[in-house]
Amino acid sequence: MDLKKLLEGVERAARHAGKIMLEARNVGNTVSEKEGHANFVTEYDKRVQEYLFREMMRLLPGARMVGEEEGADAFSDLDGYAFCIDPIDGTLNFIAGYFPSVTSIALLEDGRPLLGVVYNPYADEMFSAIRGGGAWRNGHAIVSSEAPLARSLTLFGTAPYNPELNQITGDLCVEYLSRSEDLRRSGSAAWDLCCVACGQAGLFFEVNLHLWDYAAAGLICEEAGCVLSDMRGAPLRFDVVTSSVIVASRGVSAEDYLPRKPFEI
Ligand code: IPD
Repeated sequence: MDLKKLLEGVERAARHAGKIMLEARNVGNTVSEKEGHANFVTEYDKRVQEYLFREMMRLLPGARMVGEEEGADAFSDLDGYAFCIDPIDGTLNFIAGYFPSVTSIALLEDGRPLLGVVYNPYADEMFSAIRGGGAWRNGHAIVSSEAPLARSLTLFGTAPYNPELNQITGDLCVEYLSRSEDLRRSGSAAWDLCCVACGQAGLFFEVNLHLWDYAAAGLICEEAGCVLSDMRGAPLRFDVVTSSVIVASRGVSAEDYLPRKPFEI
C-alpha cells in the first residue's frame, strides 16, 4: 500500500470535512441528545461522518468503518484495516461557537494505528502521521517538547458525559496544577493531543476517552516522541472502545507523568 498517497487522500477528505464545518449555519437548530450528561450530536456531525465513511471506502475498499456517530459495533472485530473517525471532536464547542473543533481520522491495522490525520479548519492546521514515518503540522516535521513538567502546560479533558468521574478528574487537576506551570482545557481531546505533539504543552490526561477521540492524535503523539499510557501506566491500547489516557512529551519523566495516588475507576 502507498501510505503517502493514502495520507494525501485522507488529508484532502479532512479538508473537505472542515469546509462543511466552516459553512455550518444555525447549528443550534440541528442538535439532538445522546445518552449521558451534555452528550449531543448535530446534523453536521452526521453529515461529516457520512461523507468521510464514503471517501474512506473509496480510498481503501474493504476497510471497516468505526465512527462516533455510527459503526461502533465494528469494535468487536478490528482485524485487518479499520478507519476510526470522529467527524467533529469538540461537538460542544461546535454548538457553542467556541473553538477549536477538529476532524479526526485514523487508519488502524489489526488494532494498531498506521496513519492519523487531525484537521482544525478554524486555524487551517493539518496534523498527520504515518507509523514509523514521523509526524507533521502543515507538512513540517514536529517533535514534542523537551521541557520538564514543571516548565510545561498540562492539558486535560473532563469526561463530561460521565459525571461520576468528576471528582477524580478534579483531584487530578489539583495534582497536575502543582506539578506543571498551569492547566488548559480546550474541549477537543484530539486537538489537545496534537498540541502536546508539537511542543506547546507537556502533558495531557483524561480519565475516560473513546478510541475515536485519541486514535489519530495518539499516533501523531507517538511519532512526535511522546510516551502514551493509560493512567495506571500500562501502554495505551488502540483495540478498546474506551480508556483512560495520559500522554507526556519527551522532557516529562515517568515519575512526573503518572498520578501519585493509585488510579481506580
Ligand atoms: C469530546 C472531546 C472532549 C473530551 C470528551 C470527548 P466529542 O469529544 O474530545 O474534549 O473531554 O471526553 O468525548 O464528543 O466532542 O467528539
